[in-house]
Amino acid sequence: MVELAIEAAREAGRLLRLHIGRPRDIEVKLGQETNLVTDADKKAEKTIIRVIKSRYPSHDFLAEESGLHNQVSDYRWIIDPLDGTTNFAHGVPIFCVSIALEHKGRIILGVVYDPNLDELFVAERGRGAFVNSRPIRVSKTSLLRESLLVTGFPYNIADNPDRAIERFVAFLKEARAVRRLGSAALDLCYVAAGRFDGFWEVFLNPWDMAAGVLLVEEAGGTFTDFRGHPSSVYDKQVLTSNGLIHDSMIRVLKQVGEQPRR
Ligand code: IPD
Ligand code: CA
Ligand code: CA
Repeated sequence: MVELAIEAAREAGRLLRLHIGRPRDIEVKLGQETNLVTDADKKAEKTIIRVIKSRYPSHDFLAEESGLHNQVSDYRWIIDPLDGTTNFAHGVPIFCVSIALEHKGRIILGVVYDPNLDELFVAERGRGAFVNSRPIRVSKTSLLRESLLVTGFPYNIADNPDRAIERFVAFLKEARAVRRLGSAALDLCYVAAGRFDGFWEVFLNPWDMAAGVLLVEEAGGTFTDFRGHPSSVYDKQVLTSNGLIHDSMIRVLKQVGEQPRR
């Protein structure tokens, strides 16, 4: 299964590389003028589903552009064919393909492929996390003040859902620096690889994070909601870190959550 996910991710990644910065069609998603979808998102998704279905025709799929297919199998493939569509459409080479496999409600495998740097992130539950076959671990930074964090914003950020703007400002004041790459799946892989120390975001979808969260956990990191409770890829708050700064990040998130609304 892992080999098949890698094959599908590489094939979709090759396709995205060919079209970077010059998608043929760019549409906005219904009712969300900043949420783009291109012909490349759709083609990449079809490619991934074709490759996986050729071996596992009865499995379920949850894919960003085509939704839920089947609901009969214990196995569900969770697919983001192009994570970082806005970057892709503008020619910024920060995007990836993300494929995860859920078995009876548990994510058991995650593959994220960055075709621009040719980096392949792979994790299987209980077997560690790897980039291009080399093992990766989360960072050892223990102070928020010395941490490099990353986040992203939902497409309806203008409505400031779940105080996303205040949370961003609070971390700007407490961390060494905060980045915004535009691809949640890569953000998570970079936490797994120790490049970033922590990541938080609100209103992600399961396809954005299913593979990346497993990578973080298998690299020794921690994944919870903003209060520190166990979370799931179907929840709307994601907090991942190297574990060492987790409590400090929760403190900042709680402080913002408890401020009276203006
Ligand atoms: C988006 C990216 C971005 C995150 C958004 C996602 P898409 O996914 O992961 O980093 O901030 O919330 O929707 O639309 O490029 O697949
Ligand atoms: Ca995405
Ligand atoms: Ca996408």
